Amino acid sequence: MNGSRILSGSRLLVREIMNCLQLLTQAPGEELVLTNEPAAFFKKYARGRCAVFTGRKSVEASGTWDEFSTAVPQSERFSGIEPEPCVETVERMTAFLDAGNYDTVFAIGGGSVLDAAKAAFLVHQTKIPLQELFGVNMYSQKFPGKDLARIIAVPTTSGTGSEATQYSNIVDHNAGVKKLIAEAQCVPLAGCVVPRYTNSMPRDVTLATGCDALAHLLEGFLNVRADSNHPEGNTWALAGIRLVKEFLPGALVNDPCAREKMAIAAALGGMTIRFKSTGLPHLCSFSWFGRIAHGIAAIMLLPESWRYYLGNPAVAERTMLLSEIFPGHTPEAVIDSFRAFLTELGVPEKLKEFPDLSPELMERTACSAGENKMKLELAPRPVPVEESRFILQNILLKSYGE
Ligand SMILES: [Fe+2]
Repeated sequence: MNGSRILSGSRLLVREIMNCLQLLTQAPGEELVLTNEPAAFFKKYARGRCAVFTGRKSVEASGTWDEFSTAVPQSERFSGIEPEPCVETVERMTAFLDAGNYDTVFAIGGGSVLDAAKAAFLVHQTKIPLQELFGVNMYSQKFPGKDLARIIAVPTTSGTGSEATQYSNIVDHNAGVKKLIAEAQCVPLAGCVVPRYTNSMPRDVTLATGCDALAHLLEGFLNVRADSNHPEGNTWALAGIRLVKEFLPGALVNDPCAREKMAIAAALGGMTIRFKSTGLPHLCSFSWFGRIAHGIAAIMLLPESWRYYLGNPAVAERTMLLSEIFPGHTPEAVIDSFRAFLTELGVPEKLKEFPDLSPELMERTACSAGENKMKLELAPRPVPVEESRFILQNILLKSYGE
């Protein structure tokens, strides 16, 4: 997409977006492209035998599949990947790759498709069982310097930012939990963000994925203790937060220009959490799959988590940098203003409005999340392990509405 298509926001915003897009393409050996004409991208990366992973129906409905298969007629497709993909699905995808001797793997779909493709390609190449790859850099720590082939990602929602991250979330139904692979070799080799592919998202998906993107951007921005991980992390986050504030309302009524800005914001969110990880909202909502949309859960836990973070003066200071986006003269007022924005979008006030959530689940979550010592320690305001149950319970029950 050339600059003229983007020249529709305020001047300051335009300059920031252009700077960010330049930065997004600067990771050595990787490419993140923003275009509404992706055929050349598809052809460029379609080397040798190509496997393509897709979700259920939306790739047909949106015309994405026709466009891709015309550009890459030699591809073989595995479709039907479900939202919140599970271990068994990744195993079937791995078997598909094992049987096909493919040179290139494309993933076209929402974050679920991209995440599952990352996991399947990792298992296929390493022959390490999936269960042994959950955790942080489980492959690359064992085999430093042994680079793997990586997927080519084409997102069709504007939320997870999976096109720019090392993360893959997979549900383990036997254990009743979602598990995370955070593996440097899972960052896609190339991502192609095609804003018009998101046009077919219904309103509820647009809202939930938009909230997920906003949660990534805000959690990353507030993560003051990870500032040194990348010099541009906060610039990406701030630009993305501005975009969501200005354009998520328009995306909800299907304005194509707003859709385009949200696609950029989601990619910026992915870039942000690649270097500045999410905090307590994502930790606490991690295993609520099937009960509430992921993005809605994360964003609804943010205000109370943020109020806890304010005990760190550096977070209070960082919060005031958001006061021009979420107006307020104090950090508390900025959070209130942020929450008012969510209310305008139609995000419920309290988690108790979701029938599959309960005070008992909040209690259980406070215990299970309290076992993730690394995440507690790395939070913008660390959570002492011995007090974790009390602190997390407080955040969860207040967000629930008890
Ligand atoms: Fe998320």
